[in-house]
Amino acid sequence: MLFERSVAGVFCSTVEGKFLDCNDAYAHILGCSCRSEVIGASVKDFFQDPGDREVFIKRLEEQGSLTEYEFHLRRRDGTSVWILENASLVSNDNDKPRTIQGTVIDITEHKIEQAREKELQLELMQQSKLASIGLLAAGIAHNVNVPLQGIITHIELLKLTHSDLPYMDDMLEQALRISAIVNNMLFKSRQEQSQDEQEIDLNKLLTEELEFLNADLAFKHEINKSYNFDPDLPTIRGVYSDFSQAFLNIVRNSIDAMHASDKKWLSVRTSSLKSSMMIEVTDTGCGINPEIRDRIFDPFFTTKPLAGQQRSDEPVGTGLGLSSAHQLMRKYRARFEVQSETEKGTTFRIYLPCYSAETDSAIETEASEWDAELEVPA
Ligand SMILES: Nc1ncnc2c1ncn2[C@@H]1O[C@H](COP(=O)(O)OP(=O)(O)O)[C@@H](O)[C@H]1O
Ligand SMILES: [Mg+2]
Repeated sequence: MLFERSVAGVFCSTVEGKFLDCNDAYAHILGCSCRSEVIGASVKDFFQDPGDREVFIKRLEEQGSLTEYEFHLRRRDGTSVWILENASLVSNDNDKPRTIQGTVIDITEHKIEQAREKELQLELMQQSKLASIGLLAAGIAHNVNVPLQGIITHIELLKLTHSDLPYMDDMLEQALRISAIVNNMLFKSRQEQSQDEQEIDLNKLLTEELEFLNADLAFKHEINKSYNFDPDLPTIRGVYSDFSQAFLNIVRNSIDAMHASDKKWLSVRTSSLKSSMMIEVTDTGCGINPEIRDRIFDPFFTTKPLAGQQRSDEPVGTGLGLSSAHQLMRKYRARFEVQSETEKGTTFRIYLPCYSAETDSAIETEASEWDAELEVPA
C-alpha cells in the first residue's frame, strides 16, 4: 500500500535489467500510463546511453547500495527525464537471483533550471566580456576613425583638384568600407549590451548578424548565401539580443548541418504577412530525421557530440540552442515551423505577430498566458 501511494517512484528489477515490479508513480516518471506497462520491460530501453547502466551496476556491485545517483533516462515517448535514485542490491537467499530495489524522484525541472542558470552565468560573463570589448572597440574605432576621416577628406579633395587621377573612386570606396565596418562593430557591441526594449528593424538586425558571421572564414568562403529581405517588413518592439540570439542559434544549426554536405546553400528571407512577419532560414544540410523531429526543441536534445568528444572539426552541441530560441521568442508570441527532408535540407520559419503602437503593451501582459507555438509538419 505504502509502495503504491508513494509520490516517489519505487521499483524492483533484476540485475540483468528486467523490471519485476514498480508503482504507478515510477511508471509515470518513465512516461508510461500505469505499472503494467513497465513490469516485464527491459530497463535498458529507458536509457539514453546504455553504458550509464553498466557503470551504475558496477558501482552498485562494489558498494551494495547507492544514494542520490543521477540518471538521464528516456521516457516512453522519447523525451528526456532526469532522475535521482537511491538503490540497493538485495539478495534474499542463495537460490533466488539478486534484485535491485530503488526509489526515484523526477529532477528534470531542476536540471533545466540548473542548465539555464549556467547558461545565464555564461551569458553574464559573455556580457561583461562584451562590455570590455565594447569599450576597447570604442577606443579603437575612435583612433581609426580620426585618421580615416582625414584620408577620406583628402581623397575627396584630390578628386576635386586632380579629376584626371586614376583609382580615386576605388580608394574612396575602400575607405568608406573601413568606416562602415568600424561603425558596425560599435553598433553591435552597444546593442548586445542593452536589455532595453526598442523598435527593432529585423532586416537590419539580420544583416548585421550575418555580416558578423563572416568573421568565421568557413562561413564566409564555403557557404553560398542568398538573402532576401522584405523592404515592407514592419519594426518589432523588443530586446535586441532576444532576436539576435534566437536567430544565431538557428543559423548556427544550419551551418552545423551543412558541415559534411557537398552543396552548401544558406538562404535567409523575411516576409511581411497580413498580421504577422516571418523570418525563414533554409539550408541544404543533413536534414532532420522524422523520428526525432518533435524532440529537437527539448532542452538537452542533441544529435551532436559534446564538446571534447568530437572527431576533428565536427560540430559540437549542447542541445540548448533551439530550446533557448523557443524560450527567448515566447514573450513575442512567436510560432515556429520546421520542414525538413533528410539528406536534402531544412527550413525553419519564425512567425511573429505584428502589433500597432497602441497594443504593444499586450505583448507583456498576455505573453505569460501564451506559449510559443510549435508546428512540426511531418
Ligand atoms: N538546420 C538543421 N538541420 C539538421 N538538424 C538540425 C537543424 N537544426 C536543429 N537540428 C537538430 O536539432 C538538434 C537540437 O538543436 P539545438 O537545440 O540547437 O542543439 P545543438 O545544436 O546543441 O545540438 C540538433 O542536434 C540537430 O539534430
Ligand atoms: Mg544548436
